[in-house]
Amino acid sequence: MASWFQKYSDRWHNDPYPFYAYLLEHEPLYYIQERGFWVASRYEDVNFILKDPLFVREYRNAVPQQHLQELPQPQSERNPLGKLLDNWMLFRDPPVHTRLRSLVSHAFTPRTMDRLKPKIRAIAEQLAAWMAEQPQPDLIASFAFPLPVIVIAEMLGVPPEDRELFKDWSHTFARVLEGTDGSPEFAQQAGKAAEQIADYFRRLIAARKSAPREDMISDLIAAQEQADALTDQELIATCVLLLVAGHETTVNLIGNSVLTLLNHPEQHARLLEKPELAASAVEEVLRYESPVQMTSRLASADCEIGGRTIRQGQSVNVMLGAANRDPAKFERPDRFDIGRSPNRHLAFASGPHFCLGAPLARMEGELAMAALLERFPQMRLADEKPNWRPNILFRGLGSMAVKL
Ligand code: HEM
Repeated sequence: MASWFQKYSDRWHNDPYPFYAYLLEHEPLYYIQERGFWVASRYEDVNFILKDPLFVREYRNAVPQQHLQELPQPQSERNPLGKLLDNWMLFRDPPVHTRLRSLVSHAFTPRTMDRLKPKIRAIAEQLAAWMAEQPQPDLIASFAFPLPVIVIAEMLGVPPEDRELFKDWSHTFARVLEGTDGSPEFAQQAGKAAEQIADYFRRLIAARKSAPREDMISDLIAAQEQADALTDQELIATCVLLLVAGHETTVNLIGNSVLTLLNHPEQHARLLEKPELAASAVEEVLRYESPVQMTSRLASADCEIGGRTIRQGQSVNVMLGAANRDPAKFERPDRFDIGRSPNRHLAFASGPHFCLGAPLARMEGELAMAALLERFPQMRLADEKPNWRPNILFRGLGSMAVKL
């Protein structure tokens, strides 16, 4: 088991589901001695761990007070990457988490989403039109990848000519989040990316401070006037988080949606016949091929779950991808059914860190699917074997050649 986490073999990364089924049935809460962490896979346990305040994100909130002196220096004092990550709401607990999150949450209200909808539809249609001109397009490179980056860059106020810069930075951060490459070379690459992206946003923020526009960065700067608002460092880190959190994940949602539909011709035909099922189809892809497969929490006190005790300070990997296939929660979980109801999956997690961008991701997924199905009802896969990226945290394709 430990080796699975260490070196994600081809077999597992192409198809992790037999492994998840084994965990769910035989080892729903498993302690990996060699690595010193727990793995939780059942829906009920995963949901509990994500929601219960006993489970936290910050190590300093998990270990007993007397051990705090033994902790290493805070990341932020060590390197540019640490400076960014320490200010990501994703890795913070209340009260800092609550403050960071509440300042950004207004950007994702239903009203803001309604305003964005025609813009996103136009972007999806434009990308589909470009794809139509290519003899054998790669759906990931030509459609799934650019769509979310254009959308979030527009929301933030990043000029179109700078979008290309984000491609490499975003991939680098996805690997940082995965946390499996501990090599000094990668540490150097990640540090450099952090420095460059922070510099980029520092300059953009300065430009918006002197000449505000109608974009999210200008809104966040305006909010800096309020008490408890974001510091400059927090503002930079938040921009980077929104870019990274909203990019890799949504690329995967779009790619996984197309792949799964094309591999299930009866569901594909059903959606073509009933386009009003698009929203429900997106939910089913989120459950069936979850773009984020896992996350983690730390126990801030001893906690008993299913007869086993997780000790204070221990880490738990919660397997969202496995919980979403738990037969105790979902009827026939390995069946892809675009009309599934109820479908209370955990693809966006749950509890205080529930994905802030979920309304945006859902809308992007739905509009992407609508644009593609409408324009290319005959679309087929050009390669039989899907090219899953070797990444254990994010489940998504590196490329997908299609025939239109
Ligand atoms: C299909 C696409 C997406 C998926 C599957 C996804 C999944 C997730 C998950 C599982 C978490 C919680 C992680 C944890 O608790 O450890 C999360 C948090 C977050 N997501 Fe998403 N996400 C997606 C798209 C987006 C988008 C489009 C944005 C914004 C542009 C976004 C912004 C965030 C932010 C800011 C957080 C941190 C929330 C917090 O810590 O309170 N996500 N996302």
